[in-house]
Amino acid sequence: MRRERQIELLRKLTTLDPHEPWPLAERTMRNPASAYADPARFEAERTALFRRRPQMLCLSSELAAPGAYVTADLGGVPALVVRQADGSLKGFVNACRHRGAPVADGSGERPRIACPYHGWVYDLDGSLIARPYAEAGFDDAPKADCGLLPIFVAEGYGLVFAQAEGGERLTADSALCGAEGEIKDYGLESYVLTEAREHVWEVNWKLVLDTFAESYHIRALHKATIAPAYSSEVSLCNAFGPHPQMIGLLKTVFDEIKKPEAEWNFLPHTTCQYIFMPSGLITYQRDHIELWRVTPLSAGRTRVRTSLYAPEAPATDKARAYWTKNLAALLSVTGTEDFPLMEKIQSNLASGAIPELIYGRNEPALIHLHTAINDALSQAGANA
Ligand code: FES
Ligand SMILES: [Fe+2]
Repeated sequence: MRRERQIELLRKLTTLDPHEPWPLAERTMRNPASAYADPARFEAERTALFRRRPQMLCLSSELAAPGAYVTADLGGVPALVVRQADGSLKGFVNACRHRGAPVADGSGERPRIACPYHGWVYDLDGSLIARPYAEAGFDDAPKADCGLLPIFVAEGYGLVFAQAEGGERLTADSALCGAEGEIKDYGLESYVLTEAREHVWEVNWKLVLDTFAESYHIRALHKATIAPAYSSEVSLCNAFGPHPQMIGLLKTVFDEIKKPEAEWNFLPHTTCQYIFMPSGLITYQRDHIELWRVTPLSAGRTRVRTSLYAPEAPATDKARAYWTKNLAALLSVTGTEDFPLMEKIQSNLASGAIPELIYGRNEPALIHLHTAINDALSQAGANA
């Protein structure tokens, strides 16, 4: 984010009462409980949002060398993204053309892609190279017709995107919907992964994003942990197309703006979150980047991958321990305070005992997110 924009945002804060909710949306929003619990709605979201829209997968540095790969589930489509010898990226359906076995698992690096079932070997570009000890068994199925099937990928500003269907015009810019103007200033290209952890929570995928879309809950839910340091009432909200931005504020920001303007610093007092609808969020937090990626498994079940990226690869045990501790602290607050409560909310929503949720005017990023989700779903319904 540019210095001028940072100053503009800080100037706004000088006019506010730190104890009064700000900003306020025009009106509250009601969302039916079924939006989080109905299996038919879930299937519609998985197809319209996770299969037919761009998904943010990871930072480019996770796929640095030729042969580096990551796998993902794109709305039920198994996907594999591989760094090519020429530095570009290609994406494939992660299913062998012989009898459908996944050809890769997790993430890693390899010179070729060998299927674990019968050993078919694919080049990094997805073309079938060999069917060892079995060419005669397939002599009427030419290798040229048996390459891995393509999916759409795009890369830019240090981020990797993939889309299973309808991504003919996918670019990093089209995926970011205007957020690229700010994202490019963070220089994500130079950040390196220190560690990624995965956890499955018994929640609808939207509850994971809801966790990050407002600061209102900090005062009550996090009173014993982060509430003394963070502002619950005031945050800075913006949006880029369907993607809300929620900048959380450390209380120290209100001391910062008492200094002369030329000395103002923005980033040390803020947590800049870009919620990327639907697949997760990127957070710029003082000295590192976090990426949270959600994979919806069912209406009430979601896999969450949290990756922490540092400005440079940790070279010493001390540096490695610092980042491990950092990630553990982050996951300890969300993993003991936010997500366990979200599991109870999910169970309440699935019980049928409450008809709807009410998003407050003091939760504008939450309202933006759910308006964007509901609009994308009705648009997909109208197009279908
Ligand atoms: S399924 Fe891949 S080689 Fe048979
Ligand atoms: Fe929280």
